[in-house]
Amino acid sequence: MERKTFRIGFIGMGTVAQGVWKHLEGNCGRISASLGADYELAGACVRDASKKRGVSIPSEKLTENPFDIINDPSIDIVCELMGGTDKAFDVTIGALKAGKVVVSANKAVICKKGAEIFETARKFGGAYFFEASVAGGIPIIKVLREGLVANSFSLIYGILNGTCNYILTRMERENAAYETIIEDARRLGYVEADESLDIDGWDAAHKICILAYLAHGVWIDPEKMLVSGIRGIRLEDMMWARDFDSRIKLVASVRKNGDGALFASVYPALLPLSDVVANVNGVYNAVSLSGDVVGRTVHIGRGAGQDATASAVIADIADAVRYLMGAPVMPLANAGENAKFAALEDVSGEFYLRMEVPDQSGVLASIASDLAAEEISIELLQQRKHDTPGRAWLLLTTHATTEAAVKRACERLRGAKYIFGEPFVLRIWRGE
Ligand code: NAP
Ligand code: HSE
Repeated sequence: MERKTFRIGFIGMGTVAQGVWKHLEGNCGRISASLGADYELAGACVRDASKKRGVSIPSEKLTENPFDIINDPSIDIVCELMGGTDKAFDVTIGALKAGKVVVSANKAVICKKGAEIFETARKFGGAYFFEASVAGGIPIIKVLREGLVANSFSLIYGILNGTCNYILTRMERENAAYETIIEDARRLGYVEADESLDIDGWDAAHKICILAYLAHGVWIDPEKMLVSGIRGIRLEDMMWARDFDSRIKLVASVRKNGDGALFASVYPALLPLSDVVANVNGVYNAVSLSGDVVGRTVHIGRGAGQDATASAVIADIADAVRYLMGAPVMPLANAGENAKFAALEDVSGEFYLRMEVPDQSGVLASIASDLAAEEISIELLQQRKHDTPGRAWLLLTTHATTEAAVKRACERLRGAKYIFGEPFVLRIWRGE
């Protein structure tokens, strides 16, 4: 049989795309041998063609016009690695309509426009692959779609943002300030162009939204999820969490309750040290999947950065080549279930509250009374030394209560004369 050659074009040539280019070029013999086909790196669209890059690309292969790539009839596979939503969506749709197979690492556009993208791919007989969009180098999308296809998932949770895990790990290990750490994360290529996507939890929300779609066949709007990032966590919280046999991690999850209602969220939580996920550090991600057939599986690997992400993009390019050689595409998601969503107010759990208070009599009694008024029962209570004379830190954990009750209690406490500012609240993670 005649050996085929496929041409690959890139939209974007930043951190991830340069990694893909570098490995496709450097490992060409090995990769094409496993594909059973040859490939050529056809060209790349960038914002600024004069910028110096970490890979050497002949100037005639660079353009600032994405249509030079998506309308080039000799290009078979388009890698959308530019990021963002609106322009990335236009480029993706344009490429699919032009009959290209599209590979993407762009969780933001999938979360916002996945339904339209998948439909366009289907309508125009193309395919769209997005392994690198969730959990960097962990092939979690293949795991969900293929390896664990037999399962219905009661709980998917884990660490889905490499930047936040890198920051939290270094805060804990080095007692280092957030500002110096994020600079390193930027330099290492972990951080999104809009870094609030990482820090405020939205990037992890986009990723759990994609996993929820693959597992349950429904799109969950991140705007309707409980999404909270890592701002406001103090070095002391990291240290004090250890006294509760826990470690603070940004946990993304989608849970199916006994009544079938789904609840998706992203928040920093105290994870018990006995949970393997609590021991996944640095830029590593972890995804725990609880399936009715397989039981629990946990998948760990680098969640961000050039090489780990390039590994996932190249896996998709391999799938794209197989598709172009006639292999069928796996169904995208579990059959759409009748979606019901749990209301945030009704979700129950245990909480950690940190309060800055005057170090004087009556304070404890007043706070306990405000919590009791919302039927919140205290499990543990500790007072810690404050650097400012006359002040103290008060830490407490609650027994199970509802999100709504904690919200009301915080409203009562905010502005009361026996507390400075407002309580800082973290959730306590309970897996099953
Ligand atoms: P990046 O370093 O910021 O690179 C973006 C690239 O897109 C740059 O080459 C830029 O051109 C180009 N670009 C941006 N806007 C453009 C426009 N309007 N027209 C033409 N070119 C444009 O981003 P990245 O870190 O590689 O991330 C790329 C995608 O992968 C994003 O969707 C991101 O969420 C996702 N992702 C990243 C990681 C990671 O660890 N970095 C991991 C998983 C997924 P110039 O170079 O000329 O500025
Ligand atoms: N900024 C993302 C992260 C990149 O830190 O996880 C990987 O998706």
